[in-house]
Amino acid sequence: MANNLPLKLATLAFFLACEVVLMGGFTRITDSGLGCPDWPGCFGSMVMTTDTETITHLQERYPEIHVAVHKGWIEMIHRYIAGGLGLLILALAFVGYREKEKTANYPYLLSLVVLGLVIVQGAFGAFTVTLKLLPNIVTLHLMGGLIIVSTLMYLRHRLKRLALGDSSLVRMRTPVMIGVGLLFAQIILGGWVSTNYAGWACPGILSCAPGGAEVNYDFQSGFHLFPEVGPNYEGGQLEHGARAAIQMVHRAGALVVTVYWLGLLWSLVKQGVLASRKAMHFVGLLAAQIGFGYANVVYAVPDSLAFIHHALGVLMLLYAWSIAYATAVEYEEVSYGSVKHA
Ligand code: HEM
Repeated sequence: MANNLPLKLATLAFFLACEVVLMGGFTRITDSGLGCPDWPGCFGSMVMTTDTETITHLQERYPEIHVAVHKGWIEMIHRYIAGGLGLLILALAFVGYREKEKTANYPYLLSLVVLGLVIVQGAFGAFTVTLKLLPNIVTLHLMGGLIIVSTLMYLRHRLKRLALGDSSLVRMRTPVMIGVGLLFAQIILGGWVSTNYAGWACPGILSCAPGGAEVNYDFQSGFHLFPEVGPNYEGGQLEHGARAAIQMVHRAGALVVTVYWLGLLWSLVKQGVLASRKAMHFVGLLAAQIGFGYANVVYAVPDSLAFIHHALGVLMLLYAWSIAYATAVEYEEVSYGSVKHA
C-alpha cells in the first residue's frame, strides 16, 4: 500500500479511542455522568457554565442531580474527545473508500463497521444520560467502547501488514480467543459492579463480610438485566444482598480468568509460540489488577484506586489482544480459498 495515510489515521483513532474509554471511566468514577443532564449540550449550551448565579438557578431547576462546574466539564470533555474520535473514524472511512480501488484486500468494510459502531456508541452515550445512568445502558456503553478499541486495533493491524506489502490474513488460535472472551466478560462484570455501586458491598477479603458473617445474597435481583426505567441510578438502587451477589460473582470471575490464563500462557510458552517475557508481562498485569481490586474493597473504592482498576482492565484487554496477534497463524489469500502456512 503506497499511501500511509489510512494507517496514520487508524493509529491516531486507536489511541484516541483508548483515551475516550479511560475518560469514560473517569467520568463514571467521579460521578460526573449526570454532570450534564441533557444531550448533546450541557444545560442547553456546548460549554458548561461557570457563573455561580446560573449554577444556583440550575440547581433549583434540576433538584434530582448535583449541579457542579467540575462535573459538567468532565462530562463535556468526554463528549468533545468522543466527537473528535467520531470525525476521525469518518475520515478513515472516506480515505478507505478511495484506497480500496487501488489496494488489493483493503479492509474498507472494517472501516465502515467501526463507523457504524461509533454511531451506535454515540446513541448509547445519549441514553446513558437521558435514562439517568440505567446500569444496563452504562455497562453496554463500556462494552461498546471496548469493542471499538478492539476493532480499531484489528484495523490498524491489517493496515500495518498492508503497508509492509503483506496482504495475507491471520487466524487467531481458539484457546487464546476463549481467553480474550473470558477477560472481556470479566471486564463487563466489573462494569456491572461499578454501575450498580456494588464495590462497597463486601469489605471482607476471602468472604463478603469481615470475619465470615452471614450475608443474604440475592443473585436474582443482582443480575436482573432490565432494571426499571425512570429512577436516578447514581449511587445505585439495589439492596445490600443484591450488591453483595454481584461483587462476589466478580471475584469468582477473577479466579476463572486467572486459572485459565495461567494455564494458557504456560501452554503457549511451552509450545514455543509465545516469548516467556510477554507471558510474564501479562501475569504482572493480572497480579496488579487483582491487587488493586482488593485495594478497592479494603479502602471502600476511592476514585484513584477505582480509576487504576478501570485503566488496568483496559490495558489487560489490549495486552491479551497483542498476545492473540503474536500467536496467530498466518493464512495466504489465494483465488481458490485460503492456505494454512504454519
Ligand atoms: C481479572 C481480574 C479483574 C478484572 C479484569 C477486573 C476488571 C474490572 C473493571 C474493568 C472494573 C470497572 C469497570 C468500570 O470502570 O466501569 C471493575 C470494577 C471493580 N472490581 Fe474488578 N476486575 C478484576 C478483579 C477484581 C478483584 C479480584 C476484585 C476484588 C476482590 C475486584 C474488585 C472490583 C471492584 C470493587 C470494582 C468496582 C469499582 C468501581 O465502583 O468503580 N476486581 N473490575
